[in-house]
Amino acid sequence: MNSLRINGIDVLIIGCGVAGCSAAIMAAEQGLSVALLTNSPEPEECNTRYAQGGIIGYGEDDSTEKLVRDIQNAGGPVCDPNAARILAEAGPKLLHEFLIDKVGVNFSKDEKGRLETTFEAAHSVRRIYHASDATGREIEIALLKKVRSLPGIRLFTSHTAIDLITPNHHSKDPLARYKKPRVVGAYVLDQGSGRVGTFFSPITILASGGAGRIFLHSSNCKGARGDGMAMAARAGARIINAEFFQFHPTTFYHRDANRFLISEAVRGEGAKLTTISGKPFMKEYHPDAELAPRDIVARSIQEEMIKNGHDYVLLDLENLSKNGIDPKERFPNIYQKCLEYGLDITREPIPVVPAAHYQCGGVYSDNAGRTSLDGLYAIGEVSCTGVHGANRLASSSLLEGLVWARLAVDGIVENPPGKEKFEKRILNIPDWKEPDGNAGIDPALIFQDWLNIRSTMWNYVGISRNSKRLIRAVNDLEYLQRRIERFYKDAKLTDDLIGLRNGVQTALIIARAALMNPMSTGCHFIKN
Ligand code: SIN
Repeated sequence: MNSLRINGIDVLIIGCGVAGCSAAIMAAEQGLSVALLTNSPEPEECNTRYAQGGIIGYGEDDSTEKLVRDIQNAGGPVCDPNAARILAEAGPKLLHEFLIDKVGVNFSKDEKGRLETTFEAAHSVRRIYHASDATGREIEIALLKKVRSLPGIRLFTSHTAIDLITPNHHSKDPLARYKKPRVVGAYVLDQGSGRVGTFFSPITILASGGAGRIFLHSSNCKGARGDGMAMAARAGARIINAEFFQFHPTTFYHRDANRFLISEAVRGEGAKLTTISGKPFMKEYHPDAELAPRDIVARSIQEEMIKNGHDYVLLDLENLSKNGIDPKERFPNIYQKCLEYGLDITREPIPVVPAAHYQCGGVYSDNAGRTSLDGLYAIGEVSCTGVHGANRLASSSLLEGLVWARLAVDGIVENPPGKEKFEKRILNIPDWKEPDGNAGIDPALIFQDWLNIRSTMWNYVGISRNSKRLIRAVNDLEYLQRRIERFYKDAKLTDDLIGLRNGVQTALIIARAALMNPMSTGCHFIKN
């Protein structure tokens, strides 16, 4: 099959959630030519779309200092104070200037036309802007509309990045390995034609999101399988804090439903957690009860489930009406979704369980979005800027994606990469080589391998960990990875196969990081 070499790109962006789309818009506005990739046929299908609660804005009686303190209290000692300050100082301002004024995101307003704020756990004031209970969807749709209006951005849907190109690994020049490591683009599968293109770019921005789907239960979208972290690791980028994987305390429990989020804002507005028999329990675990940091609420729910032998606990919304809030009006998306499964949340409590939600660690990214490899930036959930420390503060992730998109693009514009050097380094990069065998893969193998990865991660690398479980997880995942790599090498490439290879690698990175860190902190909880 003919090779496909794509040149003339200034910035290649992998992933089109809030971080990727924002960076694309900001770069295009600076006159840069952008290629924006997503492996999904529907570009809105990403984790941003499923964020319900909101995004941190300005609260009444709020201040940068208060926000920094809240971020650090949630994130613990691992939280980087400089990164927390950058987010708190730049975030809410950028949210107004970019998302509201430029992109036109419609956040909910009160009857006086002021932006409405909601409350979420571990925040000291009401400061979360929201668009009803589908904030991420509203943001994503507005961003994509803007993306499509800008001629400088080429949007490639159903395009899966396979590997980052580093001359040190890929060049035919045997001396290339001695040069400073740098990324010069990516090999990309066009799912429609089955062809693999070589996308060259002096700058690659990873904005590929998280990896919640490597766990059995997750609030994440289908594509959250760790592609970015795995690709970056193979290219030699530094990965940090991978053990800090956050579990959301409340996702809908139903035999026939995928876990979907029951926003933290529901507790923020007064809902209470109880056992199946209606006994409240959160006060026994933390003085702030339902509004304690997320890691504590998730663990408390799990302990209650284990103690009582129950598959779920209940989220009782009765208090909302007492506070003058109609759940159907305030949370229409959750109301509708539960109703599809026969549950009317205006009358009955919601059965909930914790689920894997957010990757706090990831590809090391500095205060300009730069990774440890030249030419490679990482922003949004795939990155680790240090803001989230060991436990992310609710509604900070969309804001982080936005702020680091700005920092990365500003840095790229201020210090553009040398074109000549780049041209030299791509001279000897070969086209993608098709595997010899080109065998199709039995989907049953992919299904079973995913089941193994997901149950291993959920049971051994989940909410509560110990060294025996982690050793077992690492051993099992290493074995699986060897087998997957063996058939990956001979098989016809598909998006599913690429995802499986990345999923097992990311699972291993997380399990190994958890095993290496014997200290319980935030969402890395060890109980030997
Ligand atoms: C939620 O609405 O509970 C999710 C918000 C977040 O994860 O920041």
